[in-house]
Amino acid sequence: MLRIIISTLGLLGLVQAQATPQTIKLNSRVAPQGTSLKRRALSPTTIPFADFFLGTDLQWFGNITVGTPPQTISVVFDTGSSTLEFASTLCSTCTSQVQFDSTKSSTFRDGGRTSTITFGTGVGVDPVVGNNYQLTLRSATDTVSVGGLTAPGVSLFLITKQTPTFNIDPFSGIQGMGARAQGLFASLVSQGLPSLFSLYLTPRAVGNAEMTIGGIDTTKFTGTPIFASQAASSSTWQLVSPRLSVNGKTNTLLSQSRTIIFDSGTSNVVFSTDITEAIYAIISPDIKPNPNEPGTYGIACNRISSLPAVIDITFTSQSGAPFNLTIPSSELSVGPFANDPSTCQTLINALDGLNLVGASLLKHWYSIWDVGGQRLGFAPAKL
Ligand SMILES: *[C@@H]1O[C@H](CO)[C@@H](O)[C@H](O)[C@H]1NC(C)=O
Ligand SMILES: *[C@@H]1O[C@H](CO)[C@@H](O)[C@H](O)[C@H]1NC(C)=O
Repeated sequence: MLRIIISTLGLLGLVQAQATPQTIKLNSRVAPQGTSLKRRALSPTTIPFADFFLGTDLQWFGNITVGTPPQTISVVFDTGSSTLEFASTLCSTCTSQVQFDSTKSSTFRDGGRTSTITFGTGVGVDPVVGNNYQLTLRSATDTVSVGGLTAPGVSLFLITKQTPTFNIDPFSGIQGMGARAQGLFASLVSQGLPSLFSLYLTPRAVGNAEMTIGGIDTTKFTGTPIFASQAASSSTWQLVSPRLSVNGKTNTLLSQSRTIIFDSGTSNVVFSTDITEAIYAIISPDIKPNPNEPGTYGIACNRISSLPAVIDITFTSQSGAPFNLTIPSSELSVGPFANDPSTCQTLINALDGLNLVGASLLKHWYSIWDVGGQRLGFAPAKL
């Protein structure tokens, strides 16, 4: 879920944690002779993900624990945002989710600030309209653990109110995994965890989705990962792409260079309207905008499976060689529209000013999010 707006209701200014670089103080003392210097490092750990599926794969989520004693909370590990927020007992509209009860945690500290965050891409495949993906939050700190790795005093937000768009979620919150280490991940890195994580997001039929935090699970992909450098120094994961091709064809618009955001919290693909329509024109002139849901497109469900729709997005590796991340034809349909079951929605939503790939691509590529190295790595996922 890509966050684009931060607004604050409290008195203390912007709530988004400042992305200050982590400074690790080196100890200059000389070790006494005969003893070996021991670095207290954390080892990588892998946690399983569950797949939230509604006609198509929407989100993958896994467990963290919060508080003392630990309460299990499920979160989407979302590379499109940077903070940790989850439903709490303070939220009267979060009743379909597991709610964290801060009164039962001895390590909980209220931060006293209230804010709202608005997401620019949502939980499902529907377009985001206005403020329909908004959370009202209260700042706090508490102990947080993931896969047995524990961080004390992690900055987090309790959800105190949410727009109804979040009510269907089978998970309680969102753990931001942006390109700058913050919160839980920053704390684990400062304790010696290698500064990277890897995602294996699979279609429901394959299952066994997982995240390895601090490392790479080499059993989940084929070949050697190809790495490309982050396009900008920002908390948004993004790469420059010199070209898009559809079924092996490109055109003047599609072969312009553009920056593409990688967002594990978004199900679909989002491109500006002109790019979206240029891609659909190559696949089939019968793919049409759905006037009932601006930004979405569709075609008769009985035609969609016969359409070839291979989208190659070209990037440049750190060694300068071009490589393609391909979205296969199988991703073209995201299932029938709720208000028109004979029409199937297609994978790209139009939103001017945004070029973003989500799970439709990440399901087919094992992805390595190297925060320390400011680069993204990909290898074909073993499915
Ligand atoms: C998260 O924890 C709950 C409760 O312990 C468990 O039922 C569920 O299977 C876990 N989910 C994942 C994805 O591990
Ligand atoms: C990338 O895809 C395009 C279009 O299908 C193709 O022409 C090109 O050869 C591919 N490049 C690589 C490096 O595979």
